[in-house]
Amino acid sequence: MKVLVTGGAGFLGSHLVESLLDKGYDVLVFDDLSTGDIKNIQHTDAQIVIESIRNYDAVVSAMKKVDIVFHLAAVTSIIETNLNPYNAFEVNTLGTLNVLRAVVKCGVSKIIFFSSAAVYGDNPNIPINESAVLEPKSVYGLTKLDGEYITKIYSISPRLAEQIEIKDETISIPEIVGWNHDDKSNGVDYIILRAFNAYGPRQRMDSQYSAVIPKFINFVLKNRPITIFGDGTQTRDFIYASDVADASIFLAEKDVSGIFNLGNGNEITIYELATRIAGILGVSDNMQVEYKPPQEGDIYRSAADISKLKQIGFSPSVSLQEGLVKTINYFQ
Ligand SMILES: NC(=O)c1ccc[n+]([C@@H]2O[C@H](COP(=O)([O-])OP(=O)(O)OC[C@H]3O[C@@H](n4cnc5c(N)ncnc54)[C@H](O)[C@@H]3O)[C@@H](O)[C@H]2O)c1
Repeated sequence: MKVLVTGGAGFLGSHLVESLLDKGYDVLVFDDLSTGDIKNIQHTDAQIVIESIRNYDAVVSAMKKVDIVFHLAAVTSIIETNLNPYNAFEVNTLGTLNVLRAVVKCGVSKIIFFSSAAVYGDNPNIPINESAVLEPKSVYGLTKLDGEYITKIYSISPRLAEQIEIKDETISIPEIVGWNHDDKSNGVDYIILRAFNAYGPRQRMDSQYSAVIPKFINFVLKNRPITIFGDGTQTRDFIYASDVADASIFLAEKDVSGIFNLGNGNEITIYELATRIAGILGVSDNMQVEYKPPQEGDIYRSAADISKLKQIGFSPSVSLQEGLVKTINYFQ
């Protein structure tokens, strides 16, 4: 079976590519290498098209004879999307439109769209479930919400994507009103995966846009104080990269459509995270912390209710402690 992974040369994409190849899939990566790196997948048998999802014709041409699409390509830094919103909308929103139109045109049977917990914004109802109100606080979250709507609408009404003129028939899209109801679509099967904070090997460590775990590890390895934005009491739910890959393949293979949270289901404060990393690296007694004001678009608490995913048979298998040890070993 042939699968296309947009963003497959990135952090999560490369883990997904490895897992798909292990399971015997024929994998084609579509990536413009803007934040991804060919080195992330050069040890594998995956083929790669180096192109942007902004280029519709290139997306269509790569998607021929593809059975399943995993769509990860995106501008992924919250700060970067806030600083350069036009680029974020062009890639995350219009790029996703290109991917979904190509999915319909090429007769792909299932699309797995990587959305984000950022679509929830700062909702105090923690752990949060899939039917919560969606109120993104960042441009990134807004573009991911666009991607969710595009994925859902084009999957359930493929004629929209085909741009077929419908004369005597009204297109009815009742599911858009009942947004959180799951549909077994008449068109393309779809999964919207709302991933919480992922971490693991190959996540970028030294960019100004790096995520918190690689950043903290980098601070400690370089004997620098750990910088915490805010007072450290804000929380996150961390999910290990191989669990993200396994969950998305599980959902791709299962006869199901709909929206799924993906986290570990555990909330941890950023200060506690810093102490865990310092502990694993053996510097607990002289851990240095420097506090800075919260960043634009940051949310206070975040934790996933993953009961929906568990009900259909998937649970993450890597604990935070185990995942941190593996990640630190990789970076060391
Ligand atoms: N890492 C997380 O914690 C997390 C959490 C929730 C959701 N996600 C989502 O998972 C996906 C993967 O994220 P990641 O953390 O691996 O980030 P990443 O930046 O490592 O991966 C993104 C990939 O997309 C590629 N890309 C960017 N713009 C492109 C374009 N115009 N055309 C083609 N390729 C393009 C990049 O080169 C990169 O390889 C993203 O959609 C992200 O929003 C990630």
